Amino acid sequence: MTTKSITSQGSQFRVATFGPETHGDRHRLFFALMPDAGVRAQIASAAESLKKQHPVGRWILPERYHLTLHFLGEDPELRPERVGRAVAAAQAICVPAFELCVDSAASFPGTKPPWTLRCSNPAHALHELWQALTAALVGDASHRSPPSEFIPHITVLRDADKALNPCAIEPFSWQVRDFALIDSQIGRQARYTELGRWSLAPKKGSKP
Ligand code: 2AM
Repeated sequence: MTTKSITSQGSQFRVATFGPETHGDRHRLFFALMPDAGVRAQIASAAESLKKQHPVGRWILPERYHLTLHFLGEDPELRPERVGRAVAAAQAICVPAFELCVDSAASFPGTKPPWTLRCSNPAHALHELWQALTAALVGDASHRSPPSEFIPHITVLRDADKALNPCAIEPFSWQVRDFALIDSQIGRQARYTELGRWSLAPKKGSKP
C-alpha cells in the first residue's frame, strides 16, 4: 500500500492506494463499507465454500471485497469537484455504528449473474446510513438517481455461468464502524484508491 495526497474544495486528503502506481483508463466512484482483515478472511472462506458448486466466472480478490452503499458514476478522470461533493455528503452523515450478520448467499438475476453474500436481517442502521447518504447526495446534480431499493450485498463472483440458489452460509459478524469513498480505476491496471473514510457515531447503548 502507498499513500498520496489530493486537494479538493480547499481540503487536503491523504489517500491510500491498493495496487500498482500506473494510470488506468476510467474511474468509478462509490461509497462502500470496507471490511477489515478479519472480515475479509470470513468472506473469503464463504466464497471458498461456494466454489464447491463449481461456477465459472471471475472471483473477486479479497482485497477488493466491499459492500457498496452508493455508486456515484464513472468518468474518464477523477474530477476533484465530484470528489468534493461526495466528501461534503459524507461529512453530513450522523449514523451510529452497527453490527451486520452475514448469513446467506444468492445471485442477482441475469445471464451472467453476480454471486453475492447477504444478510437476512440487515441492521436498521445500515438502511439509515444508505438513506442519509441518499439525502445528502440529492443536491448533487451530477449524481445519477440512486436505486429505489437497497439490497445490501458483497459480491464474490462476477459473470457467473449459472445462478446461485439462495442458501445459508456459516454466519459471521461484521462490526461496522466507518464507511469509505473509493475510486475504482479500471482499464489497463485496475486498482482501488480510498479517498476518504468517515467514522460512524458511537454504537447505540455503548458507554462513552
Ligand atoms: P457491487 O457492489 O454489486 O459489486 C464499483 O464499480 C462498485 O460499484 C461495484 O462493486 C458495483 O457493484 C457497484 N456498482 C453499482 N452500480 C454500478 C454500475 N452501474 N456500474 C458499475 N458499478 C456499479
